[in-house]
Amino acid sequence: MITLENLQKTYPAAHGENSPAPVLRGVLVNIEKGDFVAIMGKSGCGKSTLLNILGCLDDYTGGRYLLYGKEVAAFNSKQKARARSKTFGFVFQSFHLLASETVLDNVKLPLRYSDIPKKDYDKVALSTLESLGIAHLSSKYPSALSGGEQQRAAIARALVNSPDVILADEPTGNLDSDTGKLIMKTLTRLHEEAAKTIILVTHDVKIASYADKLIEMRDGVIANCFSCKKGGEC
Ligand SMILES: Nc1ncnc2c1ncn2[C@@H]1O[C@H](COP(=O)(O)OP(=O)(O)O)[C@@H](O)[C@H]1O
Ligand SMILES: [Mg+2]
Repeated sequence: MITLENLQKTYPAAHGENSPAPVLRGVLVNIEKGDFVAIMGKSGCGKSTLLNILGCLDDYTGGRYLLYGKEVAAFNSKQKARARSKTFGFVFQSFHLLASETVLDNVKLPLRYSDIPKKDYDKVALSTLESLGIAHLSSKYPSALSGGEQQRAAIARALVNSPDVILADEPTGNLDSDTGKLIMKTLTRLHEEAAKTIILVTHDVKIASYADKLIEMRDGVIANCFSCKKGGEC
């Protein structure tokens, strides 16, 4: 599903600076449909950069990224937008819900980029909220929700277009450990029951242990890749 070959990323130099060191220096990885992958590594090692490239939110500067066998660098803006809205759903550490919109309206936002008719938006968004056990919060504003509820609303927003892949960047980073566990149980259920591919960035070993595959990043490359179920290297 996702193949990275010698993937590289160098950000442009900030004004007045010398050219910066590359952040990703040749990432090689293969992610299959239905995988549950955790990416770990020190702060600043390029985990978010990698996730943003996977989700077509950012461009890479070298190597190859094949999504369903197609080179992403060759995508036009329409194909990229389609990947962002149909293939991937994003979940972030700080939820990124719009404070001025209700939970229902937040969850409805990505539907604008779908083929679903407008008259069905409420129904689709509500049933997604229901599947996460928070339909009763649909008319509330994010500020009235607990952190765990906000993250579940954000997961609903990520799911509403039925993406194949959930990309989650430190999704439990702003939550206490019990709430973090509940969020991980939700992601595990999506993986097991809805066959979602999950790619999760975390610096917490306990959170990573929910995944089937563990990728360790170091110095802009994949230092290790373990199969958690089988034991040993991938
Ligand atoms: N938009 C950007 N412009 C320039 N440098 C960036 C940008 N985003 C991230 N970086 C740099 O790239 C490196 C990796 O960042 P990041 O991918 O956020 O790491 P991680 O998520 O592993 O903590 C850091 O040194 C960071 O300062
Ligand atoms: Mg990060």
